[in-house]
Amino acid sequence: MIEQTKEQAIKQQITETRQTEAHKQEEKIKDMVTQKYKELFKEEPRVFFAPGRVNLIGEHTDYNGGHVLPCALTIGTYAAVQKRNDDKILLYSINFEEEGIVTRNINETKPIKSFTDYPVGVVHQLRKDGFNIPFGFNVVYFGNIPNSSGLSSSASVEVLTGFFLKSLFCLELSNVQIALIGQKAENDFIGVNCGIMDQFIIAMGKEDHATYLDTSTLNFEYIPVKLKNQSLVIACSNKKRGLGESKYNERRAECEKAVEIINRQENENKIKFLGELTEEEFEQKIIEDEIIRKRAKHAVYENQRTIKACHALKNNRIEEFGMLMNESHSSLQYDYEVTGKELDTLVHASWEQEGCVGSRMTGAGFGGCTVSLVNNDNIQAFINNVGQVYKSNTDYEADFYVVNIGGGPKEL
Ligand code: GLA
Repeated sequence: MIEQTKEQAIKQQITETRQTEAHKQEEKIKDMVTQKYKELFKEEPRVFFAPGRVNLIGEHTDYNGGHVLPCALTIGTYAAVQKRNDDKILLYSINFEEEGIVTRNINETKPIKSFTDYPVGVVHQLRKDGFNIPFGFNVVYFGNIPNSSGLSSSASVEVLTGFFLKSLFCLELSNVQIALIGQKAENDFIGVNCGIMDQFIIAMGKEDHATYLDTSTLNFEYIPVKLKNQSLVIACSNKKRGLGESKYNERRAECEKAVEIINRQENENKIKFLGELTEEEFEQKIIEDEIIRKRAKHAVYENQRTIKACHALKNNRIEEFGMLMNESHSSLQYDYEVTGKELDTLVHASWEQEGCVGSRMTGAGFGGCTVSLVNNDNIQAFINNVGQVYKSNTDYEADFYVVNIGGGPKEL
C-alpha cells in the first residue's frame, strides 16, 4: 500500500513536471509566432493551436470501417492570424522560412506542392461546402511536430486552419465537421486517400484520454489513460516517408479489392468494409491472391485487436495492452508490409529492453515513428540502448520524446 502511494506520487510528479514544461513551451511559442506576425504584418494577431497525434493501436483500420485508439499530443501546430480586407491569403511558415510569405488567391484550386496546399485545400473545401469566407487572411504557422514523423503535422495544419477560420468568419461548424473538411481537403485537394483518424483525434482529442473511435459510424468514447508507472515514449526514425503516399493509396486499393473478392462469393451477406468481419468469419473466405489476403487479414485482425486493446486499457490490463501493441507491429510488418528496416529496427530493439511493456510503429508507416509503453524507471536506459542499436544498424539517428496526452484545438 505504502509502495503504491509512493509510486503514485512519483507518477504525479513526473506528469506535473511534463505538464508545466508543455505549458511553458506553449507560452514561448505563442510569443514567438506573435512577434513574427507583428514583424511581417504590423498588427496584433490572434493565436490558435491544434495538436499532433499518436495512435496507440488500430493502424490502417480507419479506411476499412474499423476501430482506432489515438491520442492528441501536447506538441502541435500554432497559427498567428488575422483577417484581411481583400481576398488574398498571405501565408508564412517559420519552419519553412526560406519560402518567405506565399500569397495565394482565395479561389485558388491547384496544389503547388508547398505547405500552403493544406490551408488552401481547407479554404477550398469550406467554400465548396457552402461556407462563406468573404475575405482573405494573414497567417504565420509554426509547428513543433517533427516533420514527416508520422505524427500528423499535415492534419494538424488542416484542423487548425478550419478551427481559426470558423472563429474569424463566425462559421457554424462543429469540431467533427472541421475534421471531415480536413479529410476531404486531404483526399480531394492533396490527393492522399487517408481515413478520418488523424483529423478526428486532432479536432476531438481530450487530455489524458485516448479516443476509441468506430470509423464506420464516428461513434467514439474517451478512455482514461491511467498509466500507473509507465510513460509513452515516441521514437522518431528520421526516415522520411518518401514513396509513402503512393504506397498508402495502394494499400487502400488492395483492401477494396479484397472486399470485392469476398462479395463475389456472397449472395446475401455482402460487406461494405473489412472491419465488419470477425477473425473467424474472415478465415472462411477464400482469397486466392496471397498479397490481397495478407492485406485483408491485417485489416480484420487489427480491428479485433483494437477492440481487445480498448477493453484491456479500460480495465488497467497494461501487460495485455502491450502484447497487443507488439502483435500489431508484427502484422504491419509481415502482412501489411508498411514498416521497413528503420521502424523494424527500432521496434525489435525496444522489445528487448527491460521495462518495455509494448512497442509498435504508429501512423501510416514507411518511415516515421514508433510508440512504446515503457516503465518510468527504465526510460533513460531504453532511450540510450534503442538509440545505440538504431544508430549502428541504420543510416539514421533516432530522436526520442516522452509525451503527454493533450487536448484538442484552442485559441491561446
Ligand atoms: C495515416 C492516415 C490515417 C490512417 C493512418 C494509418 O496517418 O492519415 O487516416 O489511415 O495513416 O492508420
